[in-house]
Amino acid sequence: MQDRSIGIFDSGVGGLTVLKEIASLLPRENLVYLGDTARVPYGTKSVETVQRYALEAAEFLVDYGVKLLVVACNTASAVALPLLRERFQLPVIGVIEPGARRAAQSRNHRIGVIGTEGTINSNRYPEAIHALLPGAQVSSVSCPLFVPLAEEGWAEHEIARLTAMEYLQPLAAAQIDTLVLGCTHYPLFRNTLRQVLGDAVTLVDSAEETAKSVQQLFQQQGLERSERGGRSVFFVTDVPARFIRVGEAFLGTNLALVEQVQIG
Ligand code: DGL
Repeated sequence: MQDRSIGIFDSGVGGLTVLKEIASLLPRENLVYLGDTARVPYGTKSVETVQRYALEAAEFLVDYGVKLLVVACNTASAVALPLLRERFQLPVIGVIEPGARRAAQSRNHRIGVIGTEGTINSNRYPEAIHALLPGAQVSSVSCPLFVPLAEEGWAEHEIARLTAMEYLQPLAAAQIDTLVLGCTHYPLFRNTLRQVLGDAVTLVDSAEETAKSVQQLFQQQGLERSERGGRSVFFVTDVPARFIRVGEAFLGTNLALVEQVQIG
């Protein structure tokens, strides 16, 4: 069991931010990543559609023989996690609970959440935060332009700063001390968000927190792989060219072993 891979899926390239954190915290693990690039984005689609896509993506990874399923996509985590847990007999970790746990450490209990329209409309982050910190004041804003800006390589561009100023205005007014980056692409905006919100606001990277949850689960259940040198393989549902180009910018390393597959 320990030698099996960790399966990670996302709507496209963004989940590589989660893969990167898992690979750096658990370098011995083999990782298999599925980016549903033929059907990206999930963030603007209906709950029913995202649930169907998530089930199909998960099925592919379960058939591959993974020991754990990580739902790297915030939108899919928001609407499909209970379904996946019900359908499959293996541990399933999403990005929302880990991010909410970290956010609940807020000092002034005023917390901001940013994400896709699907994630924000689902209300899952505020629910998860309130379960841990009932009195918290949670303000949520969807930032749909961040995904294309990140994929264009403009996360630190002046346009990103102006866009962030506009989106974050209500969160600054709410005097948040913690901001949850509730979308796979948002860790790339760290410097821009710092510029706009200042250093006093804690940025919660759901990708980082999720990697810590995977590590904890493995320690509890004895699922860690002991051999050195884990490797990653990548599957996509559309031609790999764009995934490789944008993905290398996200990861900061070369992407080898990318194969196109059909799911569903
Ligand atoms: N991966 C998605 C998320 O984290 C962002 C991209 C999309 O909309 O599919 O919500």
